[in-house]
Amino acid sequence: MKSFHIITFGCQMNEHDSERMTGILEARGCASASVAGDADMVILNTCSIREKAEQKFYSELGRLKKLKDEKPGLKIAVAGCIAQQEGSNILSRAPYVDLIFGPSDIARLSHVVDKSLSQPSPVIDTAGDPEYHRKRLPAARADKIKAWVSIMYGCDNFCTYCVVPYLRGRERSRPPDDIINEVRELAQKGYKEVTLLGQNVNSYGKGLEQSADFPSLLRLVNDVPGIERIRFVTSHPRDLSEKLTVAVRDLPKVCEFLHLPIQSGSDRILASMNRKYTRAEYLDKIMRLRDSVSGLALTTDIIVGFPGETEQDFELTVTLLEEAQYDGIFAFKYSKRPGTAALNLSGHVPERIKEERLARVLDLQKAITEKKNKALSGTVQEVLVDGHSKRGGTITGRTRGNKAVNIDGPASLIGSLVHVEIISTGVNSLTGKICE
Ligand code: SAH
Ligand code: SF4
Ligand code: F3S
Repeated sequence: MKSFHIITFGCQMNEHDSERMTGILEARGCASASVAGDADMVILNTCSIREKAEQKFYSELGRLKKLKDEKPGLKIAVAGCIAQQEGSNILSRAPYVDLIFGPSDIARLSHVVDKSLSQPSPVIDTAGDPEYHRKRLPAARADKIKAWVSIMYGCDNFCTYCVVPYLRGRERSRPPDDIINEVRELAQKGYKEVTLLGQNVNSYGKGLEQSADFPSLLRLVNDVPGIERIRFVTSHPRDLSEKLTVAVRDLPKVCEFLHLPIQSGSDRILASMNRKYTRAEYLDKIMRLRDSVSGLALTTDIIVGFPGETEQDFELTVTLLEEAQYDGIFAFKYSKRPGTAALNLSGHVPERIKEERLARVLDLQKAITEKKNKALSGTVQEVLVDGHSKRGGTITGRTRGNKAVNIDGPASLIGSLVHVEIISTGVNSLTGKICE
């Protein structure tokens, strides 16, 4: 096999898993092809979080079948969460697939690829590697300034709508030394920002021999010279501790930015989702956070149309958004997922109502985001310049609060921290002028 092409769906963990697969395949001498048509093997790194993600995968698979008809030697591999969920079932729908492996099998990628190359029949390997979290894997990162670093895998929370715990397994933390070594190497390569990845970073450290928790890990990362900024996703509100608030306040490299998914503003729905916090507890936590960390930017995830969500429940999500004043939200219509507890709940909400509710929260949030961005007008922000901008100024970057800023400035600033004055604002981005 000389070349491969990876198509990635889903979350940052999947994006980063694709970087790792690229690293592993490049280490065995294969080249990454920029289009599927030029590759000997195409890997689909899949997501199963909502039905739509699954549909996207099957339509991509259909396109690849046509490519394989023209080029019979082409190997098609399915990785990621749908591979883990469906295993050999994928073959009954798509018998032309050659290789199926799950997210915790990536350390064995080279081995499964060899196996697939040596036999005509499909190879299925979704057993998972119990030692996966202790493996140091190469990664060929797409970005040269900002890097993702996995700190843990899996999830133990079993929110009733979510497939992740079934597909990514139990929570396993990487040893702190491994993480710090990886961050040090990134700093040596010139990376300026790291985003620590996990489904629930606030419970980092469970089951480790070396005693560690997330705030203490942040302190270790903060001490790595060369790294200028630290971000992390995702935090579960229940596990957000006072200690974390203090770490975000005191550690200079940790950005004043938090993605804290609430999901719903109704206690009845939160309980039915198994989120294990109430609206009041959540609001109290963000009030404390904002009191301690000045200029904190906050984003969240919302699900509308969860089974049993009445008009009153939904109104509570609307008022929650008004109260919390997020900088941005990701909102989704509830989607039925195989094997999850919410499937068996009564009161599934009709599609039309889910759509209306989704449109309403998005409209409301647009106005809030616009207003919050406007409030930054005239302020001076620290921006990490990370590339050329598509429109507006000539270069672009992010504030510590993770807002995109277009700046009129030379490309030589890419990779540096600059201070800019915000001169205009929109919903999706800001425009800044470099301060003398
Ligand atoms: N571990 C993270 C995020 C996991 S998935 C967390 O707990 O916050 C990202 C988001 O997808 C979730 O926060 C949730 O809002 C949404 N999501 C998950 N399952 C869903 C489903 N079945 N239907 C609609 N949205 C879903
Ligand atoms: Fe899914 Fe809940 Fe785990 Fe997030 S915390 S991955 S929403 S089960
Ligand atoms: Fe999707 Fe799996 Fe991530 S279901 S959101 S790729 S953990």
